[in-house]
Amino acid sequence: MCTQEAFRAQRSQLVELLASGSLEGFESILDWLLSWEVLSWEDYEGLSLPGQPLSRLARRLLDTVWDKGVWGCQQLIAAVQEVQSDSASPTLTPRGRWDPRSPHPARDLQSHRPAIVRRLYSHVEGVLELAQARGFISPYECDEIKLPIFTSSQRARRLLDLATVKANGLAAFLLQHVPELPGPLTLPFEGMYVEKYISKLRTTVSAQSRFLSTYDGTENLCLEEIYTENVLQVQTEVGVTGPPQQSPAPLGLGELFSARGHLNEDADTVLVVGEAGSGKSTLLQRLHLLWAAGRGFQEFLVVFSFSCRQLQCVAKPLSVRTLLFEHCCWPDLGQEDVFQFLLDCPDRVLLTFDGFDEFRFKFTDHERHCSPTDPTSVQNLLFNLLQGNLLKNARKVLTSRPDAVSTLLRKYVRTELHLKGFSEDGIELYLRKRHREPGVADRLIRLLKETSTLHGLCHLPVFAWMVSKCHQELLLQGGGSPKTTTDMYLLFLQHLLPHASPPNSAPHTLGPGLLRGRLPSLLHLGRLAFWGLGVSCYVFSARQLQAAQVDEEDISLGFLVRAQRVVPGSAPSLEFLHITFQCFFAAFYLALSADVTPSSLRHLFSCRRTGSSPLATLLPALCVPGPRCKEGSVEALLQEAEPHNLQITAAFLAGLLSQEHRGLLAQCRASEKALRRRQARARWCLARSLRRHFRSIPPALPGEAKSMHAMPEFIWLIRSLYELREERLAREAVRGLRVEHLKLTFCSVGPAECAALAFVLRHLRQPVALQLDHNSVGDIGVEQLLPCLHVCKALYLRDNNISDRGICKLVEHALHCERLQKLALFNNKLTDGCAQSMARLLECRRNFLALRLGNNHITSAGAQVLARGLRANASLQFLGFWGNKVGDKGAQALAEAVGNHRSLRWLSLVGNNIGSVGAKALALMLEKNVVLEELCLEENHLRDEGVCSLAEGLTRNSSLKVLKLSNNCVTYHGAQALLQALERNGSILEVWLRGNTLSPEEIERLSHRDPRLLL
Ligand SMILES: Nc1ncnc2c1ncn2[C@@H]1O[C@H](COP(=O)(O)OP(=O)(O)O)[C@@H](O)[C@H]1O
Ligand SMILES: [Mg+2]
Repeated sequence: MCTQEAFRAQRSQLVELLASGSLEGFESILDWLLSWEVLSWEDYEGLSLPGQPLSRLARRLLDTVWDKGVWGCQQLIAAVQEVQSDSASPTLTPRGRWDPRSPHPARDLQSHRPAIVRRLYSHVEGVLELAQARGFISPYECDEIKLPIFTSSQRARRLLDLATVKANGLAAFLLQHVPELPGPLTLPFEGMYVEKYISKLRTTVSAQSRFLSTYDGTENLCLEEIYTENVLQVQTEVGVTGPPQQSPAPLGLGELFSARGHLNEDADTVLVVGEAGSGKSTLLQRLHLLWAAGRGFQEFLVVFSFSCRQLQCVAKPLSVRTLLFEHCCWPDLGQEDVFQFLLDCPDRVLLTFDGFDEFRFKFTDHERHCSPTDPTSVQNLLFNLLQGNLLKNARKVLTSRPDAVSTLLRKYVRTELHLKGFSEDGIELYLRKRHREPGVADRLIRLLKETSTLHGLCHLPVFAWMVSKCHQELLLQGGGSPKTTTDMYLLFLQHLLPHASPPNSAPHTLGPGLLRGRLPSLLHLGRLAFWGLGVSCYVFSARQLQAAQVDEEDISLGFLVRAQRVVPGSAPSLEFLHITFQCFFAAFYLALSADVTPSSLRHLFSCRRTGSSPLATLLPALCVPGPRCKEGSVEALLQEAEPHNLQITAAFLAGLLSQEHRGLLAQCRASEKALRRRQARARWCLARSLRRHFRSIPPALPGEAKSMHAMPEFIWLIRSLYELREERLAREAVRGLRVEHLKLTFCSVGPAECAALAFVLRHLRQPVALQLDHNSVGDIGVEQLLPCLHVCKALYLRDNNISDRGICKLVEHALHCERLQKLALFNNKLTDGCAQSMARLLECRRNFLALRLGNNHITSAGAQVLARGLRANASLQFLGFWGNKVGDKGAQALAEAVGNHRSLRWLSLVGNNIGSVGAKALALMLEKNVVLEELCLEENHLRDEGVCSLAEGLTRNSSLKVLKLSNNCVTYHGAQALLQALERNGSILEVWLRGNTLSPEEIERLSHRDPRLLL
């Protein structure tokens, strides 16, 4: 039963429900409402504005149906249910029948709209062509509908919309033609061979995906038992202007293909991007497992999985057919039928390609290849599959580290998702799954909570895995737990080496004895790893192992494991536990091998990409290496390796050469002098690269602060510096950094990067505005940043998954950081729980300027507490609450505090569920206040009553310049009250009234009366 009051009470949940879904879902709801005539065409037009945030459209829809009374509200709920049940069973045929020869075609198009949209959806192009050929639509109209910004279903809807206004028979044409279109796909051919093939494939995939791939053979970990949800988000495009957007909610794996945020609607490829160790391969493995077990992704009848590191080893030309059959699963019978089936039903086929960053060929779209049976090179085959020239409409999932994704590749990507690693709860859950024996998980979790640097590292699943592998060492070690990445990998050595030694022959700490005894093996592995990086080889055949002199004993240490998903029938090959281990061993080799000269290390620390920068042209001697190095030499391999692998290697090398670990290395190597020389060289190169990096920042524009947007190398250089852990070098490094604004948005900054940033930035002499928007800082990262808070004059942490806990810690510190004057926390997880802290910040910090808390979860209770702080404050100039839920009570409390405030110039309470009561309080505030210049109240429910109060307040105010009242259900009456107030107010410059309940004639009339009304 839905009463209107119950509907109102659930407004915020409804907004959340509508806004958390997809635009497609929202538009499907509109379809139903139109077909039931709940919405008029005018309503519909106001609700289908391209480019508007979904939350705003959702609020507007709720207002519109609210105005229709109980019936309207009930119909909305029914429409939501219709859409939900549709998406739960997407292959059902559309409901309802219509008469193709109806005498009222336009009306019938509307009343069967949901079914017609679904039927039209995959045939819009063809229908458009036909309609144009028959003269129902013009080429111009056709192009308008086909604009690439629209999805297929949006195109279908636009065609239907056009049919309702065109009286030339288009509606009748559509009504007749649409039923003739092929319906949703049912399996056209379920021959025995195909069934057999599917069943064989399921068995193969199931066997390959059941156990976790990167284990050393000492344990068999079922993926099922330890798989932990990983944070997956759609990559959003951030507009430069416009209202602040909500960040997308994390997705479940099941939403991989339904996620919105399409970059290219016609593309088939879903791209999953994540750092090394963020869990990309494991995510795919989980997908395979769910499919093979019949527990997910059943829309696909066949799933083929490939690993790019293995595919690139295929030297012979191959066709789609050989790729699928010979390199994945061979059909024992009826090859022709099976292949034909794959070609006929591409949308039931899924191909996954793991690790595009490990594919040594760079993506191009130069060479088109469309024949599924003709052979071509493996790279051309892959590129054409991704582009959809081959197996068009078959879904593809591609995983990659960020650096390997080019703009060109993105052109062929349907959705880009980012894998961000474990959440804090995820880490805990993972450890509990891994350690079911009593007490162990608890102790480990406690240890992590006490050592936040280690905790920060565990956000990357590969570290969480290492921590759980080394739990005994960690728990025994007590205080001295690892802080840097290198510490963690050395601990891992300490874990594996004694296991590989004969019983009682080695001590259980990573002393020089243990390391020295194994040095030859470690160097063999190191050489193999380094050579592999240099030639982009990550799986090693027996022949390659032999060439690198890696023998059985070296393998028995456990760092090399059998490669998964080998080509059926081929000889087994080995790979490192994880790519980061390959980099670690390469660094070990560079630190200790006698074949490496210190001078060759310069290639490791130089920013390769700067080779083409103007600076490089000016200073060729510094940046461009001399004559080409001898093939196979250390120099040549360093020059050929992928930069993203070199960066990890460089950070490890810095860590190995650090003061902390040098002693350990020195004792297993004869020449201490050689080590020193390498260290000196590494320090010098690192310092030089940083200096060069800073120098390349363009000077500030006149009148603007000098700002620096970090290049990808910056984070890496900072991380290497952190691994080296030398205060002096850090101090020297930032001496050259003279920027006022350091921008590190979208840079995958997690807690570990925060620790490195703080280690370096705390030495800055000039205060800096640190902008870390759109990263994964989280509460632990905030904690890592504290050591550099005293040099920050502003901290921007928009969209960083920060909760009250992190912010309370931050504020505790900020109370003593006089320089910090601005804090922007838009779109995090803040609740009323942090209000006390914020209030204290406002109370205690006499020079604090700006606090932005938009799009969090602060309610009236929080706002009331914060208002207390605001009352005691005399410095704040900007206060932002966009998209919280402060309601009337919160608005009242804030209004009271602002009434007497002497410095606040800008207040935003956009989208805060404020009605006329709150407006009244704000009006009183306006009467008293003498400094506020801009008041933003869009997207509330002020209605005429509230606006009349505000108008009253305006007549006695002389400071306000801009009043924003868009989307507030204001009618002509309210607008008139404002007009009258404006006659008596000379200071106001703009009153925004867009998106209110005004007819075009009223808008016309009002705009003539006073140009300050923006309608
Ligand atoms: N979702 C997950 N649940 C449990 N463990 C995971 C998960 N993701 C990754 N891991 C662990 O982290 C290790 C590294 O993950 P991997 O998938 O190889 O990362 P990537 O492919 O991104 O480099 C895996 O071997 C596994 O032990
Ligand atoms: Mg991987």
